[in-house]
Formats: sequence, structure tokens, C-alpha cells
Amino acid sequence: MDHLTLVISQLAIIITLLFGTAASGQESKSASCKTCHKDTYLKAISFKYQHSITKDQCHTCHISSEEEDNIRAQMNFPALQREWLINLDQLSDNQDYQADVILTDSSGRSCAPNRIDITPKDTWEPDGQHPSFKLTKLSGVIVEEIKRRGFIGATISWETNAFATTEVEYRTRGDRADTYKIDDLYTKSHNIILHGLKYKSNYSCRVVSRDIYGNILRSEEFTFDTSEEFTRTATIKGDASTLPAIEHMQVFRRPDGKGLFLKVSASRPSGISVTVKEVRKKDSKHGLGLMPALYSRIDVCYKCHPHDSSHPVGVKAESPKIRTPKDLPTIDGGIITCVTCHTPHGGDRVFFNRFDFRKDLCMRCHLEKYDNL
Ligand code: HEC
Ligand code: HEC
Ligand code: HEC
Ligand code: HEC
Ligand code: HEC
Repeated sequence: MDHLTLVISQLAIIITLLFGTAASGQESKSASCKTCHKDTYLKAISFKYQHSITKDQCHTCHISSEEEDNIRAQMNFPALQREWLINLDQLSDNQDYQADVILTDSSGRSCAPNRIDITPKDTWEPDGQHPSFKLTKLSGVIVEEIKRRGFIGATISWETNAFATTEVEYRTRGDRADTYKIDDLYTKSHNIILHGLKYKSNYSCRVVSRDIYGNILRSEEFTFDTSEEFTRTATIKGDASTLPAIEHMQVFRRPDGKGLFLKVSASRPSGISVTVKEVRKKDSKHGLGLMPALYSRIDVCYKCHPHDSSHPVGVKAESPKIRTPKDLPTIDGGIITCVTCHTPHGGDRVFFNRFDFRKDLCMRCHLEKYDNL
């Protein structure tokens, strides 16, 4: 026991260092917890063996303390454009988001992030008619560049009358047709680089665009040859006097209620990057929210208790000699945590054990006896 007392007093010092200065703040934060969870609290302070942190640090184990990076989606479209429609179907209807939009011009200069709120469940079609959403014309298909960097890359561009996807179907003789497309992006001027082409080969190619309703237009088939490098692209000169700026941003749904889109227009041609974050609402009850079970039952314990001193956790009973106990709490279909064997708020048995560890705790799971117990 002497050894144990020593370990604990050392622990206590570390804990004071870690949490001591914040203790008074923690105490007042936990006051409200005790009011609503009075029974839990009263039970905790009446245990024979106290887990002292339960008295005034409910937060430590249960409440997420800071806004973690809750990035849901990150999209980057470097090709220079003035208007974009970006598909946001991956967002959930039950969550609010904020998107930060940044434009970067051809000389690499960016505007400050522009923020827009996204509430999928309250977003509806844009007011009035939007004829520009229907694809009726695809034109100006051109191979802008053939360039060799190890493999060959070919840049192809074209225009559409409406916001539409950028896709290319291509093949070289004898090979299967390949499709390459830019995901989640609808634009009117299209620019795509086919990477990894073969040198000295003749490619047959079609460009394809589909609008937000699924209407498709395909170009005539055309060919290009990768024997010689060339470039037709006129370098767009960066306007050094001003940063690129966002002129308009809007989130809307397709008129049938499906499909969620972010529409952005810029003061001049730029690349765009969009970072979508979940908005966590603070509520008076649980602040930024309760921590997930794996955190409150394993990760947080390691903040104060050493990793090596315990039974394996975070695992399921998978060997034929071990079963998942019915009367001990596990999570996610059998994962063992610290709290499987220890009550977290303190307890009436030594080491807060749920059962007498000398007798029957181990045998609840292990079918073979451990001699070293
Ligand atoms: C205004 C009353 C109130 C306050 C204050 C409050 N809670 Fe709760 N808490 C509840 C209610 C009601 C529930 C159950 C329903 C729910 O999840 O909202 C709950 C659920 C919980 C649960 C999940 C219980 C379970 O069975 O899984 C934990 C853990 C918890 N609260 C901890 C805390 C902590 C820690 C604090 C202090 C930061 C706190 N609560 C503050 C009312 C409150
Ligand atoms: C050492 C970490 C830790 C501390 C500190 C802690 N809890 Fe818990 N608490 C847990 C864990 C883990 C569970 C889940 C245990 C279970 O379900 O058996 C839990 C369960 C709960 C529950 C739901 C079940 C029950 O026992 O009532 C409530 C409510 C709760 N805690 C509130 C609090 C309050 C209020 C405080 C502060 C007075 C607090 N906890 C302090 C880890 C902690
Ligand atoms: C903030 C630091 C801290 C955290 C987090 C913490 N503990 Fe503790 N724990 C202690 C301290 C300090 C003691 C010594 C008894 C006391 O004064 O509370 C202790 C004692 C214990 C004991 C009993 C040891 C003994 O010798 O009696 C067990 C078991 C235990 N903790 C399990 C857990 C589990 C399981 C978790 C996670 C749910 C956890 N602890 C999280 C600080 C912590
Ligand atoms: C399978 C059951 C089981 C699990 C899971 C378990 N323990 Fe224990 N733990 C025990 C038993 C039994 C003892 C007392 C006998 C001993 O020390 O071996 C104990 C003792 C302790 C002690 C006090 C003695 C010491 O070594 O400091 C602490 C603290 C502790 N456990 C923390 C934890 C933490 C933290 C976890 C999760 C990472 C955990 N335990 C997971 C069964 C378990
Ligand atoms: C809640 C169920 C459960 C309890 C209770 C339990 N164990 Fe385990 N134990 C497991 C599982 C599951 C594994 C397998 C981990 C793995 O697959 O690596 C394991 C692994 C072990 C290991 C690692 C070596 C091995 O066989 O893989 C030891 C040692 C061990 N347990 C000892 C004990 C002792 C001693 C007790 C009683 C204090 C105990 N266990 C209580 C579920 C339990």
C-alpha cells in the first residue's frame, strides 16, 4: 500500500499542476451540473472511496471544452473563373454550417475569407426565374495545351450557356474509353487537364457537360496528338491594383427541393476554395455538448492515470476464451473501457471496482482462470 500511496501523492501533484490553477473556474462551471444532476452528485460524494475530481470537475470528463476544428468539407477549384455553382449535397439537413470562401487570382493573391451561413433545412429555391440554370448550348471546344512533365497533360476548355459540370471522355486507339471529371463543380467556362497521357499518341475525345437538372450535352468527337507540346493559353495578367473580391454569394436549392448549391461570383477571374464547418450551438445545459463515450470512458482517464497500469481497453472480446459480459457496461457492441470495471464517479469498493476483483470480476469475461490474480 505504501507504494500505492506514493503513486497517488505523485499523481495528486501532477494533477494540481495540470488542473489546480483552473480549479476555481471549474468549480463554478460545475455548479449548474450539480443542480440538475443532484442525485448523481449526492451519490458520488457519499461513496466510501472518493474520486476527488467528481466533486468539482464534471467538465473534465463530460463537456467538450473548446471549439475543435469541425471541418465538414474542403473544396478547392484552382481553374480561373468568375462564377461558380458548388454542390453541397454532402451536408446534412439536421445541422447548421458556415462556409469560408477564399478567391485567389492568377498572381497568387487571395482575398480575406468571406463567410456565409448555411442552414440546409431552411434553404429553398432562388426567387424568380433562372433561365441560366438550363443547359442548351455547348461551344468553343479547344485543346489549349499539350505539355510534357514526365507524362503528358492536355488542357481542354469550352463554354456552356448555363452552369454545368466539366467532364471529358477520351481514349487512344486500342484502349478503353476513360472519363475524367471535376466533382461538385458547375461552371460556364470549362477548363480541365487530362493527366497521364501517353507520348506520341492520338486521342479521340468528347467533352460533356450536365446542368443541375441532369440535362446533358456532348461535343462532337475530336482528336489531338501528343507528339508535340504547344500552348494557346493567353496568360491572364493579374491586376496588381486590387485583390480579387466576391461580388455575390447565395445558397439555394433546386426548385424541386433536391440538390443544395452555393453560388459565388467574383470581381475577376480567380480560383476558389471553400471550407465548410459545422456550427456547434452552445446551450445552457451542456455548453458545446457532451463528449462521446470513448472519450469520457477511456481518453480522459489517461490524462491522469498512466497508460501501462491497466487492463487492455478499446477492444472487444474476440477470442473463444473471452466473452462480452452482460452485466458490465461496454460500448458500441462490446468494446471494453475503463468504466467497464471501474465506476467513474468513485465507488464503495476499493479501486472503484464494480465487483470484487479477487473473486469474480475477471471470470465474468475470461473463461479460463488467471492464476496470477
Ligand atoms: C438545466 C439542467 C441541466 C444542466 C445544467 C446540466 N444537465 Fe446534464 N442533462 C440534463 C438532462 C435533462 C439530461 C438528459 C437529456 C439530455 O441529454 O439532454 C442530461 C444528460 C446528461 C448526461 C448524459 C446522461 C446519460 O445518461 O447518458 C451527462 C453525462 C450530463 N448530462 C452531464 C452534465 C454535466 C457535466 C453538466 C454540467 C456542465 C450538466 N450535465 C448540466 C440536464 C442538465
Ligand atoms: C472521471 C470522469 C468523470 C467525472 C469527473 C464525472 N463523470 Fe459523470 N460519468 C462519467 C462516465 C464515464 C459516465 C458513464 C458511466 C456509466 O454509464 O456507467 C458518467 C455518467 C454520468 C451520468 C449518467 C449516469 C449517472 O451515473 O447518473 C451523469 C448524469 C453524470 N455522469 C454527471 C456527472 C456530474 C454532474 C459530474 C460532476 C458532479 C460528473 N458526472 C463527473 C465520468 C465522469
Ligand atoms: C483529473 C485527473 C483524473 C482523471 C481525469 C481521472 N482520475 Fe481517476 N483518480 C484521480 C486521482 C487524483 C485519484 C486518487 C483518488 C482521489 O483523490 O480522487 C484517482 C483514483 C482513481 C482510482 C482508484 C485508485 C485508488 O488507488 O483508489 C481509479 C480506479 C480511477 N481513478 C479510475 C479512473 C477512471 C476510470 C477515469 C476515467 C473515467 C479516471 N480515473 C479519470 C484523478 C483522475
Ligand atoms: C477488466 C477490468 C479493468 C479494466 C478494463 C480497467 N481496470 Fe483499472 N483496475 C482493475 C482492477 C481489478 C484493479 C485493482 C487490482 C490491480 O491493481 O491490478 C484496477 C486498478 C486500477 C487503478 C488503481 C491501481 C493502479 O494501478 O494505479 C487505477 C488508477 C485504474 N485501475 C485505472 C484504470 C484505467 C484508467 C483504466 C482504463 C484505461 C482501467 N483501469 C481499466 C480492473 C480494470
Ligand atoms: C469486461 C470483460 C473483461 C473483464 C471483466 C476482464 N477481462 Fe481481461 N480481457 C478482456 C478482453 C476482451 C481481452 C482481450 C484483449 C485482446 O484481445 O487483446 C482481455 C485481455 C486480458 C489480458 C491480456 C492477455 C490476453 O489474454 O490477451 C489479461 C492479462 C487480462 N485480460 C487479465 C484480466 C484480469 C486479471 C481480469 C480481472 C481483474 C480481467 N482480465 C477482467 C476482457 C475482460
